[in-house]
Amino acid sequence: MRKKIVAGNWKMFQNSFSIKDFIEDFPPLVADIDDIEHIIFPPFVYLNLFQAQNKIPYGAQNMHFEERGAFTGEISAGMLRDLGCKFVLIGHSERRHIFKETPEMLEKKILAALQDELTPIYCIGEKIEERRSGKTFEVLSSQLRDGLSEVRDLTKVIIAYEPVWAIGTGETATPEIAEEAHVFIRSELETIMPGISEDISVLYGGSVKPENTKELIKMKNIDGFLVGGASLKPETLAQISRFSVEEK
Ligand code: PGA
Repeated sequence: MRKKIVAGNWKMFQNSFSIKDFIEDFPPLVADIDDIEHIIFPPFVYLNLFQAQNKIPYGAQNMHFEERGAFTGEISAGMLRDLGCKFVLIGHSERRHIFKETPEMLEKKILAALQDELTPIYCIGEKIEERRSGKTFEVLSSQLRDGLSEVRDLTKVIIAYEPVWAIGTGETATPEIAEEAHVFIRSELETIMPGISEDISVLYGGSVKPENTKELIKMKNIDGFLVGGASLKPETLAQISRFSVEEK
């Protein structure tokens, strides 16, 4: 059975004060919401604030694929485990497009994360010009195959479908567009590893906010959300979580 998940990607936002407030304020707001996993991805330097609490599962927004070595500025999967992380985002579109991470790097990161028992949330999604030229499925298919072909147990991976044109733009995919992509993703997962696709959580991300959660979560193949901007405030994230349970 796949899990329902609402995750917050904080990117390069927040500070120690706002995070301490979040850690205090968020758990009571979702205490009565069962059957959903909340995960926060703070900037690296604030992971220790999450380590000091035990209510909110957390992870890192990125990692390096090597275990150790002369890689100035990088952080390994083992180091993240050491800080209590259970999850890591891999292949977020900002990593792919701004920091030029290649499919080869992302595959290595996924394998290294799994090796260290971190659950990767593998982010995939097409750019607007790819959608306009009818290449959406082609792009999603190669991103999935590039990243996951060598993974032995795909049930240990979470997928986030985040169309690049919807990230931070205020323009969300319609429920129908998102569902069409999620159905395709699940069918691709089924071809990569038959028999497991119903057990893999596929999240939607891209301008998710309380106002559009209800319609999106009604879609059969959307198992939750990876939320950027709207995850920074505990009340807003809790609202998204509440709708994700009530409307499913
Ligand atoms: P957004 O970001 O919700 O601010 O569009 C989503 C993401 O980048 O994961």
